[in-house]
Amino acid sequence: MKAKRRVVTSANGERPGLAKRRPTVRRIKPAIAPVSRHVPDAAAPSRAPASSGSRPSLGHACAAPTTSASNSTVDLSVDLGRGLRLENPILVASGTFGYGTEYSDVVEIQRLGAICCKGTTLRPRIGNPTPRVTETPGGMLNSIGLQNPGVDAVIAKYAETWAGWRVPVIVNVAGESVADYVEVVRRLEGVPGIAGIELNISCPNVGAGGIQFAIDAGAAAGVTAAVRRATDLPLLVKLSPNVADVRPIARAIADAGADALTAINTLSGIAVAPSRQRPLLGNTYGGLSGPAIKPVALRIVYEVSQVVDIPVVAIGGVTELADVLDFLAVGAVAVQVGTAIFADPTLPVRLVEELGAECRRRGFASYAPLIGTALPKRASAPSSKGVEYRP
Ligand SMILES: Cc1cc2nc3c(=O)[nH]c(=O)nc-3n(C[C@H](O)[C@H](O)[C@H](O)COP(=O)(O)O)c2cc1C
Repeated sequence: MKAKRRVVTSANGERPGLAKRRPTVRRIKPAIAPVSRHVPDAAAPSRAPASSGSRPSLGHACAAPTTSASNSTVDLSVDLGRGLRLENPILVASGTFGYGTEYSDVVEIQRLGAICCKGTTLRPRIGNPTPRVTETPGGMLNSIGLQNPGVDAVIAKYAETWAGWRVPVIVNVAGESVADYVEVVRRLEGVPGIAGIELNISCPNVGAGGIQFAIDAGAAAGVTAAVRRATDLPLLVKLSPNVADVRPIARAIADAGADALTAINTLSGIAVAPSRQRPLLGNTYGGLSGPAIKPVALRIVYEVSQVVDIPVVAIGGVTELADVLDFLAVGAVAVQVGTAIFADPTLPVRLVEELGAECRRRGFASYAPLIGTALPKRASAPSSKGVEYRP
């Protein structure tokens, strides 16, 4: 991966020395604009393709003016459901942008579509043994182990600041049991500054032999449904790529009440220590991220966006506009940028500008025409051949 600007980060993605700084932006504005079911002007040159009839509404004018004059004529807004309306479809991925505050001096964070904060658990976690990160060809392996101060400390330390931001903050939630997830979400419910929840279900379900929620449709649906009952906040659920077929899991999560899916979390991998006497990472296993996983993420977004009727937000190896366009083409309505932020924290905001410029160049009033262009046309009647040849 090409490093454009070197930024020193700690293993957990925080920038030493900046963690306590207050954000420079203080404008008070609700993060969530009410959802309008208004259908955009049919005369506008841009509409979501036919296949996106069930997708979130795109093409609404943003409730808030964009800060970028260059984007003023292109509508980049996206509605992820339940009132979570983003000014643009470029988000930053959980675990790669801290709590947002760490970057507010170097990035125009209010121009991001949304910030997914670090994974948050019920109790504080010290994380996994070191080493926790290592570079790999085209990416990195991390085993941070969800180091975080716990939900109460996150609320106490950041929520007031987030409430003053225009950019919505989505809290990434992790747990070891359904009760854990529900309790974290219950504490986040109603706290000003929390715009939504992203469930990280790539966590072992301790009460069920440590099997990850994300790899079993029943467990994934169970935790989603329990959280859904506990909150009216917009609920995004993050898919794991570490499964044979993600489609039944995605469907089960959608049926259980998720407002949107995010895909994908990291791929499970290991590295070997130089001595060749043991695995390199302190936790043995790590999550692979970065450009190396983009084809896998593309495949999963392609598959999932054809089987669910809720928005799909893509994540995995985004480093440039072409990656964003690829993910939109396979059905994503928004994209998160993760590992690439470590090399260049300004990339996500630049992608917002570049997406607007691309739409203008192609004469689009919104980015809706870019969505789903590489998907197969919606199936018509089932093939009679399928019936004929069934054994
Ligand atoms: C250092 C690091 C920490 C991460 N922490 C979390 C986390 O706490 N919760 C989560 O859902 N995903 C976490 N992720 C996964 C990312 O959000 C993202 O899904 C993944 O890295 C793929 O995107 P990328 O290739 O653009 O990095 C983390 C990734 C990295 C590299």
